[in-house]
Amino acid sequence: MHTENIAEGIIRLKKERDAVILAHYYQIPEIQNIADHVGDSFALSRLAAELPHKIIVFCGVDFMAESAKLLSPDKTVLLPVKHAGCPMADMATDADVRKMKAQHPDAAVVSYVNSSTAVKAVSDICCTSSNAIKVIRSLPNEKIIFVPDKNLGGYAAEQIPEKTFILHNGYCPPHEDVMAIDAKLAGEQHPDAQLLVHPECRKEVRDQADFIGSTAQIIKYAGESDHNEFIIGTEQGILHPLRTANPDKTFHKLTGHFICPNMKKTTLKHLHESLQENKHVIEIDREMAERARKPLEKMLEC
Ligand code: 13P
Ligand code: SF4
Repeated sequence: MHTENIAEGIIRLKKERDAVILAHYYQIPEIQNIADHVGDSFALSRLAAELPHKIIVFCGVDFMAESAKLLSPDKTVLLPVKHAGCPMADMATDADVRKMKAQHPDAAVVSYVNSSTAVKAVSDICCTSSNAIKVIRSLPNEKIIFVPDKNLGGYAAEQIPEKTFILHNGYCPPHEDVMAIDAKLAGEQHPDAQLLVHPECRKEVRDQADFIGSTAQIIKYAGESDHNEFIIGTEQGILHPLRTANPDKTFHKLTGHFICPNMKKTTLKHLHESLQENKHVIEIDREMAERARKPLEKMLEC
């Protein structure tokens, strides 16, 4: 008798339960391959708001699954690994935001989606790395409080010099760990390659880049470019879709250790268990959810 393998089990359970599997580009290749949709934070949150399925299984980190729940409150949202978190999101608290607001009452609070639900609940609008510039430009306020990523906030400030930015001092550890010297050495090793980096990188790394964008924007740029060789300045999970979509192009890692440990926690076994045992259901306090949903919806309307 045929014994069902883990991938077949996932596909069967997904159909039986009317579930859809969303995965971020930083997930391991096996998860990206079995997911119904793989994307950047913006695309995945838009899908979470629109998809008709009863269950959303989010292969990513907690703030992504929480955003999906905020946008689809009547659905069951599952995060396969309970402790897949985001250290950057944990760096900012709602108390930090309240304090910044008290000091700058005329500023609009823009929170990167990589933030807790409590932080979103005290924000005016959310953004992702793909739409931060557009979102901030759309605001009438001259002053912007940006939380938690000082690097994405710094990048936005450079692009929008007409506004004043008050930055929280959070950062993404895997991106912050990349130094100017790493980018310089990679460029010397691969002189014909273009450097494509995520805005979560430090300014000194961004300044050396040929292109700066979100994961989806990096994939689009590399696919459409006439260049054949690239150094990729973001988490190495993105190399899987880049190499799959562009078999004739060459992609180098910016450093050998560009890894988000939290994004690597989810395995096929976790995904199978998640669908079979309803693990782990995202639950958010109703009153907090009402407040945190608004800035996310505002972002999607922008
Ligand atoms: P994007 O996919 O939106 O570029 O986000 C990067 C990221 O750090 C997600 O944790
Ligand atoms: Fe958080 Fe950075 Fe990991 Fe994204 S890559 S989940 S921002 S720690």
